[in-house]
Amino acid sequence: MRIAVVGAGHVGLVTAVTFAHVGHDVAVTDTDAEKLSMLRAGECPFFEPGMQDLLTASLASGAVTVVDSVGEAVDAVEVAFVCVGTPPRASGEANLIAVERSVQAIAQGATGPLVVVEKSTVPAGTAERVGAILANAAPGVTFGVASNPEFLREGSAVEDSLHPERILVGADTPEAFEVMRRLYAPFTDAGVPLIETDVATAELSKHAVNAFLALKVSFINAVARVAEAVGADVRDVADLMGSDPRVGRGMLSAGLGFGGSCFHKDLLAFHHLSAQAGYDFRLLPEIIRLNDETVASVAKRVEDALWNPEGKKVALLGLAFKPGTDDIRFAPALELARLLFAKGAVVVGYDPQAGDAAKAEVPELELAASPYEAAAGASCLVLCTEWEELSELDMVRLGSVMSERLIVDGRNFLDAEAARAAGFTYSGVGHSK
Ligand code: UDX
Repeated sequence: MRIAVVGAGHVGLVTAVTFAHVGHDVAVTDTDAEKLSMLRAGECPFFEPGMQDLLTASLASGAVTVVDSVGEAVDAVEVAFVCVGTPPRASGEANLIAVERSVQAIAQGATGPLVVVEKSTVPAGTAERVGAILANAAPGVTFGVASNPEFLREGSAVEDSLHPERILVGADTPEAFEVMRRLYAPFTDAGVPLIETDVATAELSKHAVNAFLALKVSFINAVARVAEAVGADVRDVADLMGSDPRVGRGMLSAGLGFGGSCFHKDLLAFHHLSAQAGYDFRLLPEIIRLNDETVASVAKRVEDALWNPEGKKVALLGLAFKPGTDDIRFAPALELARLLFAKGAVVVGYDPQAGDAAKAEVPELELAASPYEAAAGASCLVLCTEWEELSELDMVRLGSVMSERLIVDGRNFLDAEAARAAGFTYSGVGHSK
């Protein structure tokens, strides 16, 4: 099938190369000319494991073409994916101007029957607006609207996209379902379940899933605070909770809390949508408040360890909001850096991929080229992101270059025993082991 992808960000590009990989012809476009030039040069604009190889292969085979406009992209396609940003406004409401403009351009450029698919996370009710634009803008062309939320985790987005656990399609016409079934046939033939529902249910489900995942993270971080106070180990509590299949172990790792572009934005947008619908869903902002409190509590622990933070150097290991990405949006490490700067500390950071992005966001942050360089002269080392390469740190070497041997393990990731054996005072989150 021929399909168009409007928006070449994380979601759009992963979607494009995935469909190309399973045999569809994909035209990709974006309003960012620089991004289009990078793509034409064969370069992926962000770091995501496996993406560069898939992009190179799909550009070389011609399965993905990069085009300048939505009009070119939607020429003779059956499906157009809207994968543009939906950032929060000051009120928390999702700003859907990019969605509206994309849909208008799709309507103007469409040359035949076309299903417009919302892939970006949008508030329930958006499909209705999309349908109205399509109906007004292009009389004579038959449009369908579908919601097909992504469940991609950065760092494993390619794997999640190629081997999804389930595919969710919301649509309101049999024709739209028929097109979406053909599109996903390579996946459903391989046994992936395709769940069909109405559009509003699909849209709302996406917000509900992300809010619930964020709730799990904030919940376990709140439990961690209690665990510290009563001498329990939050890691064991999480395992025990997870052993109940009704709870599930996923998203119950205590630490510095959640970051990333999705959870904050979606919680705010979901809260706004609920309020507009007449229901004050107060739990949603509370999840964010707990998350903020989590970072603040780790900052407090660092301050306590330092005693007088003024002028002391703190090394942050890992700056990305999670491992496997160069994305620093809402990264807890950067929030921690800001809190430590406010106390007069000197903060040096190391990250295998996200250093430059972090420096652009927090210019006072000093960057180091290795964990050992970051640790040189530091009083305290804080593990912020659990990159695999940081699991094998040489504690003796670290200790030998630091001015005080303090470790705060913000992800319960380091080898506490090895750290203590090397003379460190080690503290993790939610336990005293
Ligand atoms: C999330 C959703 O999982 C995905 O389905 C959605 O489409 C986009 O948003 P992502 O933000 O890439 O994906 O990462 P995810 O793996 O869900 O982690 C989110 C944050 O929570 C990260 O900062 C991570 O470090 C943190 N986290 C996750 C925890 O603190 N504890 C956990 O147990 C799991």
